[in-house]
Amino acid sequence: MSSNSATNITWHGHQVSRAERERLNGHRGVVLWFTGLSGAGKSSVANAVDGLLHARGVHTYLLDGDNVRHGLNNNLGFSAADRSENIRRIGEVARLMADAGLVTLSAFISPYRADRDRVRSIVGDGGFVEILVQASLETCEARDPKGLYRKARAGEIKDFTGIDAPYEPPLAPELVLDSDLRDVATLAAEVVTFLERNGYLAA
Ligand code: ADX
Repeated sequence: MSSNSATNITWHGHQVSRAERERLNGHRGVVLWFTGLSGAGKSSVANAVDGLLHARGVHTYLLDGDNVRHGLNNNLGFSAADRSENIRRIGEVARLMADAGLVTLSAFISPYRADRDRVRSIVGDGGFVEILVQASLETCEARDPKGLYRKARAGEIKDFTGIDAPYEPPLAPELVLDSDLRDVATLAAEVVTFLERNGYLAA
């Protein structure tokens, strides 16, 4: 799945393996990929999970809009092509972080199924946990934490996900969180339980 523009580059094997890093950390390296509409609660839940895991000594890192769209991806907007590139780069970064042994949380709309599936294949099945943060458009619009739905409805923002740009929900996510009915703390606890039950928090 890699397409290189550079030639004459060689993949170097590393002396310290991923398994050794995982043993040192006492848990697996994994990507927790939160997806859902703007306002569904992805960042809030991912932040809460990050806090719970950190408090119990798990090595984590959270990738979200603030540290990615303001930095690494500050040349990308919201066209379909730019969103694809946004997700491709984040997927590659997440893979490196998981390879470094971190529980890597990512919170982006990631509206296109093909882009998320590509990340799954970049990361490798088994190390990629797709988590749909499910909330109806009505709920997200009522929350409208950044006032962006109102602007999108007024035509002041074009290509807004759920209004005039698509959101393609995952067909077989590892976990679905019901953000219409449950609060952030409850959903975060559900994620931690899932990780425990599936062996991610042990090396
Ligand atoms: S993604 O589609 O490329 O995955 P990403 O998660 O990085 O999107 O950014 C989404 C956030 O950017 C939204 O929560 C919202 O705050 C803001 N935003 C600005 N313009 C748009 C837009 N046209 N569609 C969706 N979100 C937008």
